[in-house]
Amino acid sequence: MTAGQADALQRLWSKWGLDIDGQRVVDLGELFGNGNPVVLEIGFGMGEATARMAAADPGTNILAVDVHTPGQGNLLNLADQNGLSNIRVGNGDAIILMREMLAPDSLAGLRVYFPDPWPKKRHHKRRLIQPEFLDLAATRLGPGAVVHCATDWEPYAEQMLEVLTAHPGFENTQPGGGFAPRPEFRPLTRFEGQGLEKGHVVNDLLFRRVEHGVEHLAEQRTEQPAEQRVAHKDQPPTGA
Ligand SMILES: C[S@@+](CC[C@H](N)C(=O)[O-])C[C@H]1O[C@@H](n2cnc3c(N)ncnc32)[C@H](O)[C@@H]1O
Repeated sequence: MTAGQADALQRLWSKWGLDIDGQRVVDLGELFGNGNPVVLEIGFGMGEATARMAAADPGTNILAVDVHTPGQGNLLNLADQNGLSNIRVGNGDAIILMREMLAPDSLAGLRVYFPDPWPKKRHHKRRLIQPEFLDLAATRLGPGAVVHCATDWEPYAEQMLEVLTAHPGFENTQPGGGFAPRPEFRPLTRFEGQGLEKGHVVNDLLFRRVEHGVEHLAEQRTEQPAEQRVAHKDQPPTGA
């Protein structure tokens, strides 16, 4: 962690930080100080793309969550330097945040840009975008809210497309189905740049939460819950 990142954490955490402790349901209006729509971004990395999106759309609040402390400091610094009051930074596991700390229908959108690809077959169960995760997301997103994913790992992109298409809580915003062109509002991310340098193909997916279809999802699903998907220190993700 750089001195600037550590300094930002010290100065700004009490103002713009959120500890993900699973202990309470967060009042998002109180957290941001206004009633604007809130989009959750999971895994913002160093936060450059997050800051650019917040600057381009000040009427939307971004709750940006990551487990990576230097990135949290970096994003706080970017928000401070650019006068962005519509970003809050969460420290911890996004699954705990969503399950324990966010009310039903509280989110206006969900962004998951270049999640850890976990390329080895035995690690696929650690991938974030899975049916059980979508069950949870569908209950936290309000009707009409969009989940936007992007990845440069093509097998993961195919998996995302398959599980999102199959999920009753979501519909593809692409009229013919399939991947979406990268929307202009999504800037290039740091991991995306690294993937493009390696010749990877990037795919975006934009799915809308439908009005119905999320009732009793958790009860209906028979599979075991997927194991914890926080980045494992012993087995760092490769690629992406
Ligand atoms: C491959 S990086 C992508 C970062 C950034 N979106 C980009 O494109 O440059 C994935 C990020 O997700 C974070 N992450 C992984 N699992 C998470 C979880 N359960 N909750 C919050 N963040 C998570 C990691 O710490 C990492 O910063």
